[in-house]
Parts: sequence; structure tokens; C-alpha cells
Amino acid sequence: MKKCFLILCATAFLMPAFGQPNNAEKIFTIDADKIKAHIQPTMYGIFFEDINMSADGGVYAELVKNRSFEFKMPLMGWKEIKQDGADGSILVLNRSRDNPDNPRYIQVTSKSADGYGLSNEGFHGMGIKKDDKYNFSVLARLSGAAGLGLRIELVNSKGEVIGNSTVSPTSMEWKKDTASFIASENEPKASLRLLIKGTGSVDLDMVSLFPQDTWKQRPGGLRADLVQKLADMKPGFLRFPGGCIVEGRELYTRYQWKRTIGDVANRRMIINRWNTEFAHRPAPDYYQTFGLGFLEYFELAEDIGASPLPIINCGMACQFNTCEVVPINQLGPYVQDMLDLIEFANGPVTTKWGKKRAELGHPKPFNLKMLGVGNEQWGDQYIERYKLFEKAIHAKYPQIRLVSSTGPSPDGDIFNHSNKILRGLKADILDEHYYSSPDWFFKNVKRYDNYDRKGPKIFAGEYAAQSVATVSPENKNDWECALSEAAFMTGLERNADVVNMASYAPLFAHVEGWQWTPDLIWFDNLRSYGTPDYYVQQLYCLNKGTDVVPVTLNNETVTGQDGCYASSVLDANTHELIIKIENSSKEEQKADFAVNGVKLASNGTLTLLQSDDLNSVNSLDKPLAVSPQKREIGLTGNHIKLTLKPYSFNVIRVKLNK
Ligand code: AHR
Repeated sequence: MKKCFLILCATAFLMPAFGQPNNAEKIFTIDADKIKAHIQPTMYGIFFEDINMSADGGVYAELVKNRSFEFKMPLMGWKEIKQDGADGSILVLNRSRDNPDNPRYIQVTSKSADGYGLSNEGFHGMGIKKDDKYNFSVLARLSGAAGLGLRIELVNSKGEVIGNSTVSPTSMEWKKDTASFIASENEPKASLRLLIKGTGSVDLDMVSLFPQDTWKQRPGGLRADLVQKLADMKPGFLRFPGGCIVEGRELYTRYQWKRTIGDVANRRMIINRWNTEFAHRPAPDYYQTFGLGFLEYFELAEDIGASPLPIINCGMACQFNTCEVVPINQLGPYVQDMLDLIEFANGPVTTKWGKKRAELGHPKPFNLKMLGVGNEQWGDQYIERYKLFEKAIHAKYPQIRLVSSTGPSPDGDIFNHSNKILRGLKADILDEHYYSSPDWFFKNVKRYDNYDRKGPKIFAGEYAAQSVATVSPENKNDWECALSEAAFMTGLERNADVVNMASYAPLFAHVEGWQWTPDLIWFDNLRSYGTPDYYVQQLYCLNKGTDVVPVTLNNETVTGQDGCYASSVLDANTHELIIKIENSSKEEQKADFAVNGVKLASNGTLTLLQSDDLNSVNSLDKPLAVSPQKREIGLTGNHIKLTLKPYSFNVIRVKLNK
């Protein structure tokens, strides 16, 4: 008994406690001549959904809310103005028979010489930048009186005018009138006033204000700072437009791509499903104007060098909501929509939809290679519909790879059912979603080690570590979450022969207009910041390499020993070895990477993402609190020796000598 006690004491003394690193230097071996897997150019990408005011009020740079008076309450976001006792009236008219896609407009009647009109509050205000140019436009029609003027005033939160212009509608038919002005101040909470000069009536619709300085200076385009954040990631693909938004709460509110192209005045606006989804985060003014529509999504993907991945409704509404499905014998138009989309993206300009693309200003095809059949669907009703879509699409376009859904969780009955059947059907790519605790991410680093190498490829289509609980409004984008994702992603990368794509979700959130947290990028009306999770994603995107090579510790894959997680790749384009190594423990650890099979240059770089505090977050005021720091490192022969800081994610790049 005494002997046993002594042995136990001695073992306890020699062994590090769980999660506590051994102080001895760790020798990691990298066999750089043993390529294990090829990494797809699509490996790390982005998932865009119009949730959290990502599109309207977010990346779509329109500053006027409810510009066409189609919200359920036609004057939501608008306020009547009667300056100095001015008088008049506003009438909401509905011409649905003549214009079903944009039925409402207003008739403003001024009974005073000046000072009657209305103002728009924007999306939690309007973000205005000093010295930037703003472009106003309105569809106007005089109803009777000639000589009416419209005074356009941009107003700061103190009520002072910080930009103004006038337009003078002259037509008795609908006509677009425009004006531009330069803003004299920075203001995150501006509003827009339209004041009538003269007495009489004027009909107004599509009241719009855009900054000139949009992404690529496109008129009516996207917010440049937000798109820049995406471009800075160099993502491999762009999944759009969702997410549950594809499905709609009911089929009526599903995403229909054909309604999102062409003149914005004719894109039929609908409620955003996130308007009512969470009782604790109601968003009664959340609608979809589709100003960011399918042409813009394709262009965005093209601009940032990402492969487009549209997800299309497959005749099923959200299974967390109404669960409506289209009867199988009525799915024809849904299937046709998908086939037409492929033609819209890839077809020559001599085809119906290729011609449409050209007419919209993009004759060059978008080179669409993948398409999602439904979003987060499950059950036999999905499988039945998936089969039908798959047959029709592959009959006409055998080269298009289809993404199919395994449901909302990465395990359990729903997952197992879909996973088994879709594998039996030899599906191309299975979409797996995981919103789980940081602990789940650490523990699942080996998730794909034993997946069937010959089966469907995996798209980790939506994932994010949840600091409190899934969908809890208390969730934070803290360093612990990001660290757990970085560790988990070493497992995705090591298994790049199976995992072909991965994207964090959701992407964007307005700090005042969000419904779901955590999110990758947060913004207000003027500023934005990447979370620690953003920097993890960015580091993976920028350092994905082309071929996986093994990194081991004591002949074992590095999957959490003493808190270490690693993957390593070669980049055949830049002739570099790239090592990703995480020290998730609270102690620093000495590491020696002994590299076999190649000759390394005598120096390289280390990019470090680190914080001593697992609760660290970034914010609008401290956007770079947790952000990558890059420095040069020297090598000793084919050894890279480093001290790994506590709670650190490290990316090492070293050139290969010929
Ligand atoms: O990313 C938020 C939501 O999570 C997506 O819309 C949906 O696909 C998933 O349930």
C-alpha cells in the first residue's frame, strides 16, 4: 500500500497536470515531402446572410429606410414636418393593379409656401462622412401644380443642416430627379428632410440617398469599408444569400432570385424573416429591398476573388417555423428557377438568361461551379425534394457540384438520418452546421479524421463557438471562442481531402440592429471591426497553402497534447512551408519544429494572434485589441525554434530553398 502511494506520488510529480504543459521543449516533426492532401482553393470562405441588418442598413449603402413606402406600415421610418406652422398632408396611394412589384407611393400636398414635408430616420440614423459626396434621387410626378421645388436637407443629431440641395420636379409622368451635395460634418445619426417649396401636390416614390464613395464607386452600391473587410480575407467562396432567409418563415417569404435583379424600383420588397424571429430582439423595421440582389452577389464574389455559392430554396420553408413544403408535383417552377440561375450565371449571351445578365451589364459569365439545394433542411421531405433537384440539375449541368444539407446539428438522429441517405445517394458535398461551446470545438478537432475518404466532400457551412449557449443574446466574440475555432480548424485543414469548404456564421451584425450573436464582423453606421474570430478566419484564408503535410509530436498527430493543436501545409505557388500552431494552455511552451524532406530558408515570419485574457474582445473603440502581429524569425538549419505564448495562435511561414 505504502509502495503504491509512493509510485502514485512520483507519477504525479513527473506528469504535467491535465492541460498544464510540460516545460520541456516540444519537438514537432514535419515531414514536408509527404503530401497527405490537396487543399481546395475554396477551402475557407464566407457565409453571407441578411441577418443582423447585414444588407439593408448594412453593406447595402442605401441610407433611406422604407424608401418605397412598402413596409407594413407605409410611413414607418418617416415623420411629417411642419416648420414654422407650415401645413399640408401626406396620402399613401396603392396602385397594385398597375405596379404589383412596387404598389405604394405617397402624395405630398403642401398648403404653405415653404416648410411642409417629411423626414427619414435612416437605419438607426444615417452614417455621414465629412467632405464625402452624397447622391439623392427620387421618383417624382407633379400632380397639377408646376413650379414645386423639393428642398433636400441632411440634418445632424442637433438638428443642424450638414448638406443640402434642391430638386425641381417638372414632369407630370414619373421621372427620376437627382441632386448631389457634399456633407460638412461627420455624423453617425443624421436624418434626411424633404421640404416642399411652393403650394400644390407631388407624388414621390423610391426616395434614396447613397454615398458616392461606395465599393468600387458603383452607384447605388455597397458600403466600401464593410466589403473591404471581406476582400481583406481573400475568401475562397461566397455563400449567399443565407441561411434561413433562403427558406422564409413561410414559402411566401422565401428568397426568389429572379425578383432581385433589374431596376431596384421593381424588386418586390418583402419582410425579413429575422424581423420577428426572436422575441428578445424584435426588429419591426427589418425588410428586404433586395437592393443587394443576385447580380450584386455575383459581382461581389467576383470582386473579392471568391467562388460564388448560391443557396436556393428547394420548395421548403424554415423547419423551425412553418415547415411548409411544396407538393412534389408542383415543384416544377422551383426546379426551373435553379436551372435558370445556372444559365443566368454561366450561359452565353445568346441564351435567355445569359442575355439578361448581359443586359444588366455583365456579359462575362460568372463561372458558377456549385449550388446549394435548400439551406438547413432535413427529414424525408428534404431527401425527396433533393433527389428531384439533383436529377434535373445534373441531367443538364453534370459539372455543377451540389451542396446538400445534413440539418441544423452535427450529430443526433436528424444528422444521422440525412448523412446516411445522402451518402447512399453519392451526394457531392454535405453541408454540416455547428453552433456549440468552445469546449465542443476543442474536443472535436479529430471529427473528420475517420470520415470516409471516398464519400461526399464536406462543407462546414455554418459554425461559431458560442460563449454562453447557442443563440444566447449574451454570447460574446471573445478570445476563448476564437481560440477554440482556430484549434478546430487545424482538424479541418488536416482533413482537406474530405473537408473542401468551411465558413463561419453569421458574417455581419449592426451593433444596434442585431438579432443573433456571435458574428464575425460588427459595425455601426460609420465604423466596423473584425472580431478575434475574424482574424482567425483571415489567417486561415491567407495561409491556406495548397498541400497538407504531416506535423507530429512523438509520432502522433497534434490534436491537443498539452493544449497544442497544429497543422502544416506547403504552398506550391509561393514555395513556402506554413505551420499553424496553437498553444491553448495558460503557460508558454517551447517548441522546436524539425522539418524533414525540404530545405528551409534561414528566416521566415511569425504571425501571432494572442491575448492573455480569454475574455478579451474587440470593439468599435478598440478594434485591434486582439489582432495579428507579424515579425521576422530566424531558423537554425531546418529547425524553427519558438516560444509559444500562452493562449496563442501562431502562423509560421518559411520559404523553401531549391
Ligand atoms: O447563421 C444563422 C442561422 O443559423 C442561419 O440562418 C441558419 O442556417 C442557421 O440555423
